[in-house]
Formats: sequence, structure tokens, C-alpha cells
Amino acid sequence: MIRSVILGSGAAKPRTLVTNDDLAKRVDTSDEWIVQRTGIRQRYIAESDETTADLGERAARAAMADAGVEIADIDLIILATSTPNNTFPATAVDIQHRLGMKHGAAFDMQAVCSGFVFALTTADTYIKSGQAKRILVIGSETFSRILDWEDRTTCVLFGDGAGAVVVEAQEGVGMSNDRGILTSHLRSDGSHKDKLFVDGGPSTTQTVGHLRMQGREVFKHAVAMITDVIEAAFDATGLSADDIDWFIPHQANRRIIDASAKKLNIASQKVVMTVEQHGNTSAASIPLAIDVARNDGRLKKGDLVLLEAMGGGFTWGAVLVRW
Ligand code: UT7
Repeated sequence: MIRSVILGSGAAKPRTLVTNDDLAKRVDTSDEWIVQRTGIRQRYIAESDETTADLGERAARAAMADAGVEIADIDLIILATSTPNNTFPATAVDIQHRLGMKHGAAFDMQAVCSGFVFALTTADTYIKSGQAKRILVIGSETFSRILDWEDRTTCVLFGDGAGAVVVEAQEGVGMSNDRGILTSHLRSDGSHKDKLFVDGGPSTTQTVGHLRMQGREVFKHAVAMITDVIEAAFDATGLSADDIDWFIPHQANRRIIDASAKKLNIASQKVVMTVEQHGNTSAASIPLAIDVARNDGRLKKGDLVLLEAMGGGFTWGAVLVRW
């Protein structure tokens, strides 16, 4: 059986760090409110010369170096983003060009905060069907560009950044101790589309628009959706919370992560929490968290990792992967 094995990972952060106190000088908020309600202490914000393509390219190069592969070894690039450099062409194609790749294909994937889980699942499908051997999966975002900086209910929550992994087709025996992606589950429900959206677009306002969110409404659905899709991943593999080495969720809010882990009986020491350092970086949050757990020595080859995300759409999904 072909498995999609993660060969390496990398990340890129913008130069500029913005603390909660910095934001309190711009809008009516406080470090205390932001930390208490979200767990966020700081975020990185891209300067005008740091675009989604720049950050994505840096993360991709770091992931390829970590994986020990060259661009010639890659046959597909999938970029998860909701903040592309342009409406078209796909920012993935720009990154493909910057990396000097003239073969294969590149495309963007848009599932907002669930983008990395959707992109990784898509990569797994390409690999399992034999259409690609090595795929760069990138999550890169510059949400600071679509924030309404006068709206304290949203502008304090998000940050910019990018992360990437290289996925390779390898033979497995079809058991849960195989390395690689063991199962993945995606969901969406457009009836919730007005709870978290951008109020602009080419076909409607012909503007880029700003992020709008009914935070409490999103919060209300998050834990149930997250736990439902993770239970589907456990059912599909016969694995349980006890088998997990690391839970690496989308980093939107500490309270959502804590409540999800509690409901699933995942021990708190297994939870990789980076929301305090990065804020919510949408499709970049999981690969940024992977990078932190790799660099501090927690995440090692052979570990069983549970990835999960939920975001605008709503979209949500989970991936179980043996590192
Ligand atoms: O990544 C995609 C998925 N997105 C999410 O998962 C986000 C989900 N939602 C959340 O994380 C939370 O709902 C928020 C962090 C956005 C908000 O936390 P909350 O506990 O749901 O607060 P709330 O919206 O109920 O607001 C409580 C109060 C309100 O004041 P009143 O009406 O009680 O007087 C807000 O106006 O806090 C006020 N408030 C603020 N105060 C200081 C809202 N934003 C701020 C702020 N600083 N930045």
C-alpha cells in the first residue's frame, strides 16, 4: 500500500513582532482581555515587502532542505491560502517559478483555516492514486492585509506566517504502525458561510474586502465539529487518544483547543500549543506549530500525530499521520 510520508518541514515568519500591548495602542483592548479570551500574547505581521508568496517560498525552501530534496524531486505544489498575492494566477504558480520548477504543476487550495488539512489530504490522494511522488504542501497567509484594523473583535486575533512539508510516496503494509498519513477526513457546511467571511471579492464588490466574524457563533460550533471529525479518524483506524503522541490543532483560541482535548481525553502534555506566539495564522498555523515541535525536539520520527482544523465555510477536518 502506498503511504504519504512526511519527509521534512519548515516555516517562515515575518520580521515584525506585534504584542498585545502594541495593539492596545491602536484599538480599545488590553493584553489581559486578549490573553484571557484567546491565549494569544503576540503575532507576527508582514511588512509590505513580505507577501504570501515570499513567506511561502521561504517555508518551502526550509522544508525541502529539511527533507534533503531538490526542486527537481518535487512534482506538485499545493498552497493552502486565503490571502493570495493576486486574485489570479494562483500564488502556488508564483512560488513554483521562484523555486525554479518548470515541470509538474502547482495550484492553490482555499479552505481558510482548514486549508492545510485540506491540502495535505489532497496531496495524500494524489500520492495514493500514483499521480505524484513528491509534493510540497504549503500553508501561507498574510491575514493582516484583510483585517479591519479598527475592529477590535477581529484584528487582535490573527497573524501572518507560513509553513510547509514535503510528502513522499513510500510503500507501507497498510497497518497503523506504517509511517505516513493513516487517514484523513474533510467536512464542510456552507450554511454557516456568513459567520466567518470576507466582505469583498472579484465577483461581488470588486474589492478585496475585510474579514468579518461572529466570534461567539464560531466558538459555539468549533468544539463539536472538531471532536466529531477526530472521532471519525479514530474509528477509521482503530486508534484512540491514548495512542496519540502529539495533538497539533489549528491555533485559533486556547480555550477551543483545551476544550477539544478535554472532550477527546487527550492529555494536555500531548497538545502542541503555539497560539500564544503566532496568533491565528489560518492555513499556516498547523505547519508553524509542526515547526516549533520539531525544533524543540518533541516531534520525532515514528510519533503518531493528530492534526485538526476548523474555519470559515465552515470547513473542518482531521489527519492522523505517523511521522
Ligand atoms: O480560525 C477560524 C476559527 N475562528 C475561531 O475559532 C474564533 C472563534 N471565536 C473565538 O475565539 C471567540 O469567540 C473570540 C476570542 C473571538 C471572542 O471571545 P468571546 O469570549 O466569545 O467574547 P465575546 O465575543 O462574547 O465578547 C465579550 C466581550 C464583548 O463585550 P460585551 O458585549 O460583553 O460588553 C466584546 O465587545 O468582549 C468585548 N470584546 C473585547 N474587549 C476587549 C471583543 N473584542 C475585544 C477586544 N478587547 N479585542
